[in-house]
Amino acid sequence: MEISGKGVFLTGGARGIGRKLIEALLAKGARVFFCDINESVGRETESELRKQYGDDRVIFQQCDVTKADQFKATFDMAVSNFGAVDVCCNNAGIMDESVPEKMIAINTTAQIRGSQLALEHMRRDRGGRGGVIVSTVSMGGLISSCVAPVYVASKHAMIGYMQSMAFSVYQKEQGVRWISLCPFGVNTNFISPKEEQVIDKDVFLATLDVFGVIELEDVAGAFMRLLQNENNNGAIMESMRMAFTKVWFLEKVLASLENVALNKPAQQVSVYVAASKAVDGNTDGVFANGSCTHTRTPVEDVTWWKVFIRCLWTTLELSEKLINRLKPFLPPDAQ
Ligand SMILES: NC(=O)c1ccc[n+]([C@@H]2O[C@H](COP(=O)([O-])OP(=O)(O)OC[C@H]3O[C@@H](n4cnc5c(N)ncnc54)[C@H](O)[C@@H]3O)[C@@H](O)[C@H]2O)c1
Repeated sequence: MEISGKGVFLTGGARGIGRKLIEALLAKGARVFFCDINESVGRETESELRKQYGDDRVIFQQCDVTKADQFKATFDMAVSNFGAVDVCCNNAGIMDESVPEKMIAINTTAQIRGSQLALEHMRRDRGGRGGVIVSTVSMGGLISSCVAPVYVASKHAMIGYMQSMAFSVYQKEQGVRWISLCPFGVNTNFISPKEEQVIDKDVFLATLDVFGVIELEDVAGAFMRLLQNENNNGAIMESMRMAFTKVWFLEKVLASLENVALNKPAQQVSVYVAASKAVDGNTDGVFANGSCTHTRTPVEDVTWWKVFIRCLWTTLELSEKLINRLKPFLPPDAQ
């Protein structure tokens, strides 16, 4: 897909991942209409980006995506400004376990609403010109976590929705591609939550410590690759610092870490470290596995031996970090 000249609509673009995606799109020649609940930061972002890319390339509108009428009016504004929206990025999201209804309203209901607005506008079978609908989901949409269960539930729902739409029998005639971004631990406000936002902040931070944090550039780079590649309807982009780490592997280690940090007896803890299972073959960014397509954040161009070394390294690094984390909880004779 040629990005230059395309009209993009994006939610939650005032800062963080949303802002970085906007910058990447603008750099490739797109025009971006973005909204955010935060008016002051949104305006600031708009003025900074206008200085760099020109007034007609980027437009901000304050909007709370949980307000259906406001959201629709904002989407319509994007259409009337650009003539058409070719790419819709449902990105706004929060992680706050203390407000489950609000979190589901933003992370799930509003993302679905944004997708429905975009689909109605884009679908070729009703006169639209097709397009791409992107959801910033999370690795939380693919794994479990006892420190952020409602967040995880809100994101699992989005994976269910995005995959159902991507593999719908109507997808071809509608001419709309569906892409899910599933990063883990991105360097935004998300990685320093307040106590009440997660069930156990220490465990949350320990998890980030073990798995590492990725930079906004990593997410934006992989996003742009996905957007430009026409053959990846249903893609789920898993991006995390430890490339080539499979989801089940992450989940098992995460569960162990959580168990230990939550003071469960050490005997109940089993740590799975299986480097060979962590390599899943295709490393060129996108591969098909039946019903859906997974992709990894491309770290570099890799050959099989680079993958092997990387996995070995990842396993060693992960094991060492885990062992250090687990040590205080083990019985004295096991230390
Ligand atoms: N940072 C991470 O580690 C991480 C990992 C995986 C997924 N994500 C997802 O990425 C997305 C962006 O998060 P981020 O890390 O950039 O966080 P962020 O807090 O920096 O950005 C989120 C933006 O959404 C806006 N927003 C919140 N509620 C809104 C509402 N009701 N209406 C409109 N805008 C609203 C906020 O004002 C903010 O500008 C979220 O969906 C999040 O779940 C983040």
